[in-house]
Amino acid sequence: DGKFKGRDFLTLYHFTPEEITYFLEVAFQFKEKQKKGEPHRVLEGKTLGMIFQKPSTRTRVSFEVGMYQLGGFPLFLSSQDLQIKRGEPIQDTARVLSRYVDGIMIRTYSQQEVEDLARYADIPVINGLTDMFHPCQVLADLMTIREKKGALAGLKLGYIGDGNNVANSLLIGGAKTGMKVIVASPPGYQPPKQVVDWAREDARKTGGEITITEDPLEAAREADVLYTDVWASMGQEKEAVERKKVFSRYQINEDLLHYARPDAIVLHCLPAHRGEEITEEVMEGPQSAIFDQAENRLHAQKAILALLL
Ligand code: CP
Ligand code: NVA
Repeated sequence: DGKFKGRDFLTLYHFTPEEITYFLEVAFQFKEKQKKGEPHRVLEGKTLGMIFQKPSTRTRVSFEVGMYQLGGFPLFLSSQDLQIKRGEPIQDTARVLSRYVDGIMIRTYSQQEVEDLARYADIPVINGLTDMFHPCQVLADLMTIREKKGALAGLKLGYIGDGNNVANSLLIGGAKTGMKVIVASPPGYQPPKQVVDWAREDARKTGGEITITEDPLEAAREADVLYTDVWASMGQEKEAVERKKVFSRYQINEDLLHYARPDAIVLHCLPAHRGEEITEEVMEGPQSAIFDQAENRLHAQKAILALLL
């Protein structure tokens, strides 16, 4: 455990496959304890500041409740109400918060801002989503896949849609755990080369495989896991109309699901737009593990909090 204390959680790239597996072990332990009603107040007296520059349902509630269940105290800090709004630099915010709280979770636009916060803070910083990455989400996703499939290595995960923050973290998380990740996105919307290179570098060590394609069927074929996310992310509202046209073929529907393995599960980080990236039938269908996935945010993040703080 000592290997984790004081570290930041900015991307999954910074953790070894063994460390990611360990996060998952701890997450499963917390899940079991919580289900059994066994106390696990390992963060008694600790506080977490949570800065939000974008809306959130799951991340906010699961971090707040998780911190409470661990015996600690969460502070929700909307950037609208912080001096950040009036231009106080993140570097100053970082040093001030470091004097009060034991950890900071931040959801914002630029990954650089999170890196800056982490550099100037002398407490752990957790990335609760940037335009580039969503590592907490993907830790919960890996937990969900392992829960449903019993393992991760060798499984095929087909992601259909925008090469966004969630896709980027899936590439890295999947590569770290030896999965075959194939991302199908339209030209111009594929994951950045840097992220694909990182994932490939990891996949070489774990026996995983990384493929980028434009063909949704290639991603769906024989997949163990089908995954999608919104066509327009937070901050891209102005592009929504254009993106609806570009992404119309990139939908998880019954037809596409037939290409996957019969026992495939369907994941979506939520919030979802029914009739766009996923149909109502698939979302509410027997292969959807979407709400178990949302639940696992709580358990996975408790592992992150307990190990880092
Ligand atoms: N999946 C996810 O991060 O959801 P929220 O935006 O509701 O936090
Ligand atoms: N890609 C989405 C994920 C939301 C949890 C966004 O950034 O808005």
